[in-house]
Amino acid sequence: MIEMSDSVFPVPSDLASRAHVDNAKYLEMYKRSVDDPDGFWGEHGKRVDWMKPYTKVKNTSYDHHNVSIKWFEDGTLNVSANCVDRHLETRGDQPAIIWEGDDPSEHKVITYKQLHHEVNVFANVLHAQGVKKGDRVTIYLPMIPEAAYAMLACARIGAIHSIVFGGFSPDSLAQRIDSCQSNCVITADEGLRGGRKVPLKANVDKATEKAPVNSVIVVKRTGGEITMKDGRDVWYHEEADRVSDHCQPVEMNAEDPLFILYTSGSTGQPKGVVHTTGGYLVYASMTHQYVFDYQEGDIYWCTADVGWVTGHSYIVYGPLANGATTLMFEGVPTYPGPDRFWEVCDKHNVTIFYTAPTAIRALMGAGDDHVKKHSLKSLRLLGSVGEPINPEAWTWYYNVVGQGRCPIVDTWWQTETGGILITPLPGATDLKPGSATRPFFGVQPAIVDAEGKVLDGATEGNLVMLDSWPGQMRTVYGDHERFVQTYFSTYKGMYFTGDGCRRDTDGYYWITGRVDDVINVSGHRMGTAEVESALVSHPKVSEAAVVGYPHDIKGQGIYAYVTLMDGEEPTDALKKELVTHVRAEIGPIASPDLIQFAPGLPKTRSGKIMRRILRKIAEDSFDSLGDTSTLADPAVVDDLIDNRQNRA
Ligand code: WT7
Repeated sequence: MIEMSDSVFPVPSDLASRAHVDNAKYLEMYKRSVDDPDGFWGEHGKRVDWMKPYTKVKNTSYDHHNVSIKWFEDGTLNVSANCVDRHLETRGDQPAIIWEGDDPSEHKVITYKQLHHEVNVFANVLHAQGVKKGDRVTIYLPMIPEAAYAMLACARIGAIHSIVFGGFSPDSLAQRIDSCQSNCVITADEGLRGGRKVPLKANVDKATEKAPVNSVIVVKRTGGEITMKDGRDVWYHEEADRVSDHCQPVEMNAEDPLFILYTSGSTGQPKGVVHTTGGYLVYASMTHQYVFDYQEGDIYWCTADVGWVTGHSYIVYGPLANGATTLMFEGVPTYPGPDRFWEVCDKHNVTIFYTAPTAIRALMGAGDDHVKKHSLKSLRLLGSVGEPINPEAWTWYYNVVGQGRCPIVDTWWQTETGGILITPLPGATDLKPGSATRPFFGVQPAIVDAEGKVLDGATEGNLVMLDSWPGQMRTVYGDHERFVQTYFSTYKGMYFTGDGCRRDTDGYYWITGRVDDVINVSGHRMGTAEVESALVSHPKVSEAAVVGYPHDIKGQGIYAYVTLMDGEEPTDALKKELVTHVRAEIGPIASPDLIQFAPGLPKTRSGKIMRRILRKIAEDSFDSLGDTSTLADPAVVDDLIDNRQNRA
């Protein structure tokens, strides 16, 4: 439940004058961006270097008979040239990436010159492995600099990368390799997180039994024992020694795909979200500059993993396109101790820090002393992303981490949006704890009721976008119809976000969370249907229903109702077995927090599971169940309540 806090934190006046935009400028630019999108984006599109300049800017249609989204469609460019080569002359010796290892004794600084060398070499290794323009390359790497090199190398030769988060299981990896028909996987021997090893190469070996590939490029990270398959697997460092360090960036059309990123929805298998080259880069770099008020000399740290869209847009593409110094962290917030984030901020003089509410809540729980023993004087701006931030966590972040002097940008966006859509701008927007505040340039949010009627003024309903912005996803890989169905069919002529939202009397937006069967666990999106299908794939399970429930640290926890096959014993040991099973099927992020064995699930007479009731019981608010008379067997509800796991 999102609280609407009344407090307002005005823009500090010195910041308003120093920042890229103050409020008057925001209002003026915003107005132009929606009144004249062609003029506005035609001008701002020039922030990236084009090989052949565009003459057309916006060509988009939300008509559900013909959804088509094109930006800068006749321009050509190369993303890696924009993120690397164009900075060589002015900032070749400036750090591009500061890499901080899992172990605090390990770090590396990679200048733009070095980045250029590494990306060229990696691109040539890909060529040598037979990867060509348009091919899909699956990246399953830990948070090491090679992840950024690999992404930029793909972009350089026009290959489309599909990054799979290192926490996903072999099955999930196989499904993502198979779905985009990728023939090459880039991985590491093992990953390292919080002192523990992650068997990445072994997972690739399992995945490729189901989804075979021609080549596996292995980066040596830990030196751990792995097996290499002859004729398929190569060590990256050996191949790198054999190739030249010059690779000409390929000329790409603005609408050529840059990457695919799989994300969960309310039904079926994860969707391959497709982002393209020109509009995406313009939008990622522009939002990075304005939202974080990025200035020359900033040390910018986004704590996400490159396996998620945040890592794509705000660790790699946005910051590097802007010639920034971006910090990349291999580890976890609590290793070796709960002050790791703050130690790293001091060690590298971080000025802009961007993380997720779940991390903030966890670190808040560890106590203020862990923060206070570090100076944190370098920090000037804080950011939040991934889920609604509760005012309590916001206030702690502001006062204790930011020492009351750093604005917080609460950035709302999605894998599908490519970049931030609703957010404060630090020099322009007065802050309200818990509100993502106002739309970015060119973004036209609206709130609709269940019938799709646009609601005015202070109101609450479902969040849609009325028109396109350059960073918007273009299609679902290989399934444009699913793209149309998922996003443009609920409300005709509008992009449906899947989120609920309130707007207050100041026009500020307050995201209330997903309104579909997607849950948000520690800022990670999970389809309840995926967890259900993992559960029912266990031989002892006959039926399962999964819902979210409020969780102090994770935002939402996973609550699973499980009906067993006839004759199976509902034991604690079996609960553990089911958790292990889901982890193996999907990955640790999908582990159910609570499992309730249910002899029956509440169903309508036509057999549809009534999730509303299951959600209420999981929230432990079963006194407001509403009408249960339409249930086929209303008595199942009493059993569910009696045996609920989430007793207040
Ligand atoms: C969903 C998108 C965008 C990168 C990380 C997640 C929720 C995201 C906020 C925010 C409230 C937020 C929404 C959205 N969400 N940011 N600042 N306030 N909710 O990307 O996995 O595609 O998830 O995350 O529910 O729909 P994602």
